[in-house]
Amino acid sequence: MSIKFIRSHSHSLILLWLSMAIAALAQDNAPVLDTKGDPLLVGEEYYIEPAITDVGGRVTLVDRDGNCPLYVGQQNGAGSEAYPVIFRPFAEDESVVRVNRDTKIIFSAITLCIQSTEWLLGQNDTESGRRLIITGNRGDERQGGNYFRVTESQIGGNIYNLEWCPVEACPFCRFICGTAGGLFEDGKILLALDGNVLPVMFVKKE
Ligand SMILES: *[C@@H]1O[C@H](CO)[C@@H](O)[C@H](O)[C@H]1NC(C)=O
Repeated sequence: MSIKFIRSHSHSLILLWLSMAIAALAQDNAPVLDTKGDPLLVGEEYYIEPAITDVGGRVTLVDRDGNCPLYVGQQNGAGSEAYPVIFRPFAEDESVVRVNRDTKIIFSAITLCIQSTEWLLGQNDTESGRRLIITGNRGDERQGGNYFRVTESQIGGNIYNLEWCPVEACPFCRFICGTAGGLFEDGKILLALDGNVLPVMFVKKE
């Protein structure tokens, strides 16, 4: 290997080394567990529901304003249906969902919107100053907008938080990470970063 080769390839070598190091570290991360104590399996359907009471119902698609895209939010009161989600980890060889690893979260639903039902980080909402979570895919995977992660809640048990901090999808991006919580708006509950935090549990769809 000549010096010249090292020079011209040093950047991609560092990148390769870095992604291998991240992958090696991340393999040790514990699997996320469902309410029965079983690991969350890639491709299976799960309902995401609050681990505490009086903060709204299961996480589902919410029609915020009669337009597309649909938002990620929670059931509020009876009557609204909750959709399960499936997970698609950034590490394509994973068969379980692990804590602190980037993963897509995708509603298992068919909607009238022509958009994907993948969770996507939305704009900073001017009213609340919080970043809302919407659905869709802008076709820029490497920006990390579609990658969320499940983190352990301080409450313990099989209780978790949902974060946006896509360091695997975008190792050199600088972003302000955030944790999701419910935002009440006109009788609806939307999920948003940068405020209260919603502890959640995962219920496997039977
Ligand atoms: C969103 O907007 C609010 C108010 O304008 C601001 O305080 C906040 O820092 C913004 N959040 C992000 C993540 O840029």
